[in-house]
Amino acid sequence: MRKAHTFGPAMASLLLIACASTPMTGAATTRTAIAAPISDRTEVPVSPAEPEWARANPEMDAFVSDLMAKMTLQEKIGQLTLLTSNWESTGPTMRDSYKEDIRSGRVGGIFNAYTAAYTAELQRLAVDETRLKIPLLFGYDVIHGHRTIFPISLGEAASWDLAAIERAARLSAVEASAEGIHWTFSPMVDIARDPRWGRISEGAGEDVHLGSKIAAARVRGYQGDDLAATDTVVATAKHFAAYGAAQAGRDYHTVDISERTLRDVYLPPFKAAVDAGVGSFMTSFNEVDGIPASGNRYLLTDVLRDKWGFDGFVVTDYTSINEMVPHGYAKDLKQAGEQALNAGVDMDMQGAVYMDHLAASLDEGKVEPAAVDRAVRRILEMKYRLGLFEDPYRYSDVERQEAAVYRPDILEAARDVARRSMVLLKNEGGTLPLASSAQSIAVIGPLADSKEDMIGSWAAAGDRRTRPVSILQGIRERAGDGVNVGYAKGASYAYGDAGKDSGFAEALALARKSDVIIAAMGERWDMTGEAASRTSLDLPGNQQALLEQLVATGKPVVLVVLSGRPNSIGWADENVPAILHAWYPGTMGGHAVADVLFGDYNPSGKLPVTFPRNVGQVPIHYDMKNTGRPIELGEANAKYVSRYLNTPNTPLYRFGHGLSYTSFRYSPVTLSAASMAARGSLTASATITNTGKVAGEEVVQLYVRDLVGSVTRPVQELKGFEKISLAPGESRTVSFTLRPADLAFTRADMSFGWEPGEFQLWIAPVSGASASVPAGFAIAE
Ligand code: NOJ
Repeated sequence: MRKAHTFGPAMASLLLIACASTPMTGAATTRTAIAAPISDRTEVPVSPAEPEWARANPEMDAFVSDLMAKMTLQEKIGQLTLLTSNWESTGPTMRDSYKEDIRSGRVGGIFNAYTAAYTAELQRLAVDETRLKIPLLFGYDVIHGHRTIFPISLGEAASWDLAAIERAARLSAVEASAEGIHWTFSPMVDIARDPRWGRISEGAGEDVHLGSKIAAARVRGYQGDDLAATDTVVATAKHFAAYGAAQAGRDYHTVDISERTLRDVYLPPFKAAVDAGVGSFMTSFNEVDGIPASGNRYLLTDVLRDKWGFDGFVVTDYTSINEMVPHGYAKDLKQAGEQALNAGVDMDMQGAVYMDHLAASLDEGKVEPAAVDRAVRRILEMKYRLGLFEDPYRYSDVERQEAAVYRPDILEAARDVARRSMVLLKNEGGTLPLASSAQSIAVIGPLADSKEDMIGSWAAAGDRRTRPVSILQGIRERAGDGVNVGYAKGASYAYGDAGKDSGFAEALALARKSDVIIAAMGERWDMTGEAASRTSLDLPGNQQALLEQLVATGKPVVLVVLSGRPNSIGWADENVPAILHAWYPGTMGGHAVADVLFGDYNPSGKLPVTFPRNVGQVPIHYDMKNTGRPIELGEANAKYVSRYLNTPNTPLYRFGHGLSYTSFRYSPVTLSAASMAARGSLTASATITNTGKVAGEEVVQLYVRDLVGSVTRPVQELKGFEKISLAPGESRTVSFTLRPADLAFTRADMSFGWEPGEFQLWIAPVSGASASVPAGFAIAE
């Protein structure tokens, strides 16, 4: 049952103080409130709207209690066990031993199983052949689409279009749920600031505010407003927590960040997911301050349950309980299971640790029966809420599956979200959109005609081989018969092909006889995603060498980058007239790329992550600290300031950067007041004008700097944004209202709240102090 957690401001501040003083440790701790006067100024609400599914439900409570009274310990532990199905070229398969586990009530959920028929077949094992007929829960990684694949998550984030992002999640849920899936392992809300880390492609980028908004949009999209509806799925906020802060960008590596950074940077998108009503959480593989996340009581209980009031269930990542042994946190699997359960893990993904060891741990008194019951209740409650006890087959509906999968409107939405996700990084001399006079187009590069790369690494049930529209196909269809579209692969992205040039001659011959060259280059689809860290951000293989030779032909070159991370494309930025970052755009990607190249869609994406000049600048993000020796603008060669000798401090492309085929003018900022009181607010406005010749969308960004704090503050923080659409010559005034609570952070005494003082504020098209003239305001003492 959900605990009441609708607190007034006084209670809220007490709660925050209490939590603030809980050290990060896996062990139970005594809390002592810090009596810090500044905490009186806390204005941060901690009382999210209770999601519909979490409302008190006495009928459900009675049903679950009744069922649990009949369950053996083994059946209870079964509910805490999640096992995988497999896919062979012939179709779905499942180990016989797992089928036996289902029949004997030793499994509560299955992941990686889909299609209406197959999920129904597995469900029958649980419903017809077990003693208590408890239905299975089916989970799957529906990350950016199920059959119809939308752009990778980082690409969707680049749209800064919350409605489009929510729609993508909604339609993914429609397809997935029609194939029997109840639960998606999405959204991944890990803040990622290190492009070496391959999983940067799976999240929403580097920013806390944007990441939090997108987390909420995705949860709303998957879950809709009724968890019990058969076309919605339970969402999972993952990976809790700080997985994106892996040392040196190496996947699964140690995380060692300050508690303040954890709270102010890595936790807020998870909190936003809770506030949006997310139904489940997944733990992360990494340790946080020495405690693996799957055994981390501070995260899973003190923060998630006690502070945030989360009412859903917690699943581990794949065998992450077992991994507490090699982490050096548990001496064996039995102890690891005890640590996980006692920390707050409900369900064990694929590790079978609970299955094999929890009964012994109970016998030995290492875990309390009440802790097992609590976890079991959470799983059963979710099954009840999904309506599975009423009808275990309600999601496995062959007719609905046939109607939903690859529905034309879903494909069309995938195309629309894809073009919204693309970021025009550079466009010199109006190279784009392609001139209608171009009679011959050379489409060159390893990603030019590669269907399999279009859909990125988390392709769920998406078809990689036949469905995706390649860039070549998209361009050919759009260009029509009158235009000669030639193709040569030319180069390779395989690491081992660096230094080779076997395809160059053919590509260069094609380039020389064409009016314009579209070079589709970047990374193979599996160079980002899980276990895909790189120590170089350069274009892999021999692509850079071919690109240089293509530019040397003197023909106009458009570089279309397909990649799941920021690449260091400094040479291209200096030498290639137009660059479009297209991420992995999904099933309809080729059409979406053509839409942008031909100007049928005016690009509106903005970078959700900073692009470094080279890997040596990493980590680099827009909201860094100033340092005591900031490099001053104009003093490029100054010594004894915080700078590199060989590379400017500035990134190649800033967070928030993205061009359009039109241009926008920003007026100076006006403020409704020069200062605000503790319970007041102020409104900042700027008028944006489309000064170009075509209609366009612009992401108007609000940044703030807190000039002096009890701890140092970032040089800028995004505090708001709005995507607007303007006809040529049209102006719109965009206003943002700020309250002191919007400027809260973890202060010197670890309490969370704002501080009085002076601030700067920008309304600008991109991050960076020089993007527009800041206005100044104050929060009064
Ligand atoms: C491991 C990944 O880290 C996680 O994101 C995913 O949901 C699970 N595997 C299940 O496939």
